[in-house]
Amino acid sequence: MAVAAARSTWRMALLPGDGIGVEVSDAAEAVLTALRKHCSLALEWQRLPWPSTAWHQAHGDMMPEDALTQLRDFDTLLLGALGDPGPSRDKQRYQLPDGISLSPLLALRKGFDLWACERPAICYPGATRYLADPRAADVDMLVIRENSEGEYVNQGGRLRQGSAEEIATQLEVFSRHATERLIRHAFERARQRQQHRKAENAERHYTNAAGDTATAQVCLITKRNAQRYWGELYTEVFATVASDYPDIGTHHELVDAACMKFVQCPWRFDVVVASNLHGDILTDLAAVLSGGMGVAPSTNINPQDRSVPPLFEPTHGSAPDIAGQDLADPRAMLFSAAMMLDWMGEEDSAASDAATLLRQALCADLAVNNLATPRGTQQITRDIIQRLTEG
Ligand code: IPM
Ligand code: MN
Repeated sequence: MAVAAARSTWRMALLPGDGIGVEVSDAAEAVLTALRKHCSLALEWQRLPWPSTAWHQAHGDMMPEDALTQLRDFDTLLLGALGDPGPSRDKQRYQLPDGISLSPLLALRKGFDLWACERPAICYPGATRYLADPRAADVDMLVIRENSEGEYVNQGGRLRQGSAEEIATQLEVFSRHATERLIRHAFERARQRQQHRKAENAERHYTNAAGDTATAQVCLITKRNAQRYWGELYTEVFATVASDYPDIGTHHELVDAACMKFVQCPWRFDVVVASNLHGDILTDLAAVLSGGMGVAPSTNINPQDRSVPPLFEPTHGSAPDIAGQDLADPRAMLFSAAMMLDWMGEEDSAASDAATLLRQALCADLAVNNLATPRGTQQITRDIIQRLTEG
């Protein structure tokens, strides 16, 4: 594994982006400032005006031509959101097609080969519960999404565009190399979670379709009944990798059945590994299981190379309907910041302490989540900072 030289100070690029991305980035700055004081966290950051729709309006592009080269110099990236800047009621606002405004996201994931997208869905006490079944309080899964290829390679085209005979093609690419590293990473994470639960005296048991039970499980998602080629490749690689982890249970779900079971019995899932598009769709659903988009974090990492900057971002988008009104929930961004601190914490104990403290404050805040008296973005941020400084 490539390891960067020991870092005395972490350098983060803060990329607020568009819409509520700006508001939740303000929250992240305030919280990280408090943590820096409180945990002697050696973190510095630079707030960049790109990528953003505003940058496009001024310069004709979402970010400078050498954006990746500039970002490569940072240790880590924290992004708010990209897309329609809103507010939706402003009909005259400068707006771009999604394919343009969101393209930097894919450029960063691909450009830095951040091939694993990790999206945990944990239903913390106090979080909004959308499912009536009381067992839904036990949801604690990690969806790992392939982040470098698959349905997102963006190859194809439109033939005879606009005519009645038009044909659109969209190529999907699945390499054995990317499949193998992703699935192996999923098993590694399952083992870490298993060990963590054991240490906490909180073991869980997962049962697969054959009735086998294990204290950790990886569930593979495919659509191999209709898309057989990559489905078979994933299935074969999964079986080979699984044989190296005899203590980890295995399971498979077709993506449509997985959607059904995420709602019917989400507590039965531990680690879920899915292709780029399937993972994208499943993680919006998983976000709702943990309390909604307002609390769902996301990471884009290269587990084999810590020298490239990972990208942390909430799962949500720019939310033009509520942008600029102090209505955004900053906690998805703050949970993402906690995941960033976890990642830094693998090398730096002050960062690890900061991650624990921030997560505790977020959980304490969720526990008193009171929908009867809704709080604005800034109030939630102040409440969390108060908990941090008391903690
Ligand atoms: C996400 C988003 C992106 C994706 C879009 C904006 C391209 O939905 O991060 O989940 O599909 O990856
Ligand atoms: Mn998505």
